Amino acid sequence: MAVERTLCIIKPDAVEKKKAGAILAHLEEKGFNLVGIKRTHLPRTVAEGFYAVHKARPFFGELCEFMTRGPVVVAVLEKDNAVADYRTAMGATDPAKAEAGTIRKLYAASIGENAVHGSDSLDNAKIEIAYFFPASEVAPVA
Ligand code: CMP
Repeated sequence: MAVERTLCIIKPDAVEKKKAGAILAHLEEKGFNLVGIKRTHLPRTVAEGFYAVHKARPFFGELCEFMTRGPVVVAVLEKDNAVADYRTAMGATDPAKAEAGTIRKLYAASIGENAVHGSDSLDNAKIEIAYFFPASEVAPVA
């Protein structure tokens, strides 16, 4: 299996509930290395740019409003098969459909406020990581 990187955003709902540390610990226990990390409050333009693929969706305005209502923690996760394994660890987008023990089942309230974001493919992971992190802020595993 190949070593991959994927983008994790701990969303404002989880940061407000002070669950960022618990989510990061959960991911480290599952074998993910945190090779880049920052806490930031997204400007509206940055949230809109990040979710531009969803621009035509009816929930786009609500999504950008939510993502800018408070700080987020953005992290680059690295491990073998990181993209698929992180999606498994997150659970379904709708926490009502997420499996027991997944991050969204543990910490999310609704499909709109679902605690975490994760890249949906390796190609998108590369784009999303570059959106938030210059190469100098992503340190390889020692
Ligand atoms: P995320 O993985 O960050 O990618 C797009 C986000 O859109 C998704 O998580 C959800 O938070 C959000 N989303 C998807 N469907 C809906 C919906 N029906 N209503 C509100 N938000 C949604």
